[in-house]
Amino acid sequence: MFSEKDSTSIPVNAQMVTDGFRAAGAAPGDTLFYHGSLRSMGMVEDGPRTVIDGALEAAAPHGTIAMPTLWYHVTSQRPEDFDVRTSPSWVGALSEGFRRDPRSVRSNNFSHSISAIGQRAFELTSGHDKCAPLHTPWSETAFSDGSPWWRLNEWNALYCFIGVDMLVCTMKHYCEARLVAEYLARAEPSRRDALHSRLIHFGVPGGLWPSYNSGAMGELFIVRGLVKTARIGSATILAIRTRTFVEETMTLLRNEPEKWYNKEFLEWHRECTCK
Ligand SMILES: CC(C)(COP(=O)(O)OP(=O)(O)OC[C@H]1O[C@@H](n2cnc3c(N)ncnc32)[C@H](O)[C@@H]1OP(=O)(O)O)[C@@H](O)C(=O)NCCC(=O)NCCS
Repeated sequence: MFSEKDSTSIPVNAQMVTDGFRAAGAAPGDTLFYHGSLRSMGMVEDGPRTVIDGALEAAAPHGTIAMPTLWYHVTSQRPEDFDVRTSPSWVGALSEGFRRDPRSVRSNNFSHSISAIGQRAFELTSGHDKCAPLHTPWSETAFSDGSPWWRLNEWNALYCFIGVDMLVCTMKHYCEARLVAEYLARAEPSRRDALHSRLIHFGVPGGLWPSYNSGAMGELFIVRGLVKTARIGSATILAIRTRTFVEETMTLLRNEPEKWYNKEFLEWHRECTCK
């Protein structure tokens, strides 16, 4: 995964984190979500905790902050081995530090859990194991209505990247899953099961999915002025409102499938729409 080069000579404190997030658009009472690289900022005074404290202050008073704390990433892991209290996050030191912070609560999903701290942390993370099913290559509740990813969109969270680009954007899967459901709904009812069976299914080799390059699409969002940028030490923060991200992503994928999908998925997409 891409991350900016650090300048470890730059000391970074919580005030710099607060200033960076505020300059990126964080407001009082906000929900602030971030992906990030610890090293990209410089020498962060007290590590991930400083970033948590600075982010909380940027959304104060009554704000909520959250990070992805994904666990499942290698085929030798089994979903039933996921323990919401102990399974580590594999998406970097900031994320693992966030998960381990005593203030943090984590959503219960083996593939796409998030952790949150602050006013609405429980509300944001609750029920991830109980929401309505929506097909994804991972768990059926990962991105469905009622999941934390759905709430980030409903609440229009400020979605940020510290020293990394939008290639790491997990919210992209929320868009992909909804588009797959939309395409299937357009297909002849008699053909839906067959089309559905050709998608990626968890634990089954092969299959199709509308994976697209969210890094390249992110570049486009920057050029179009949809992304605010700011700095924390030597790192760039990219920030976009979640609803803007979701709406713009889905519009581009709907309008320009040839530009974003591979030819196998395009063929499947065409079969959904031909009568
Ligand atoms: C992969 C990724 C985490 C790598 O970033 P990174 O900064 O190199 O690694 P981490 O954030 O885990 O931080 C660990 C690094 O910080 C350094 N570090 C430790 N304490 C530090 C501190 N107080 N201040 C600054 N750096 C510190 C460590 O030495 C380590 O660097 P090293 O590998 O050179 O030894 C990052 O590029 C990324 O992609 N982050 C987003 C991931 C994500 O959310 N993915 C979603 C699903 S795709």
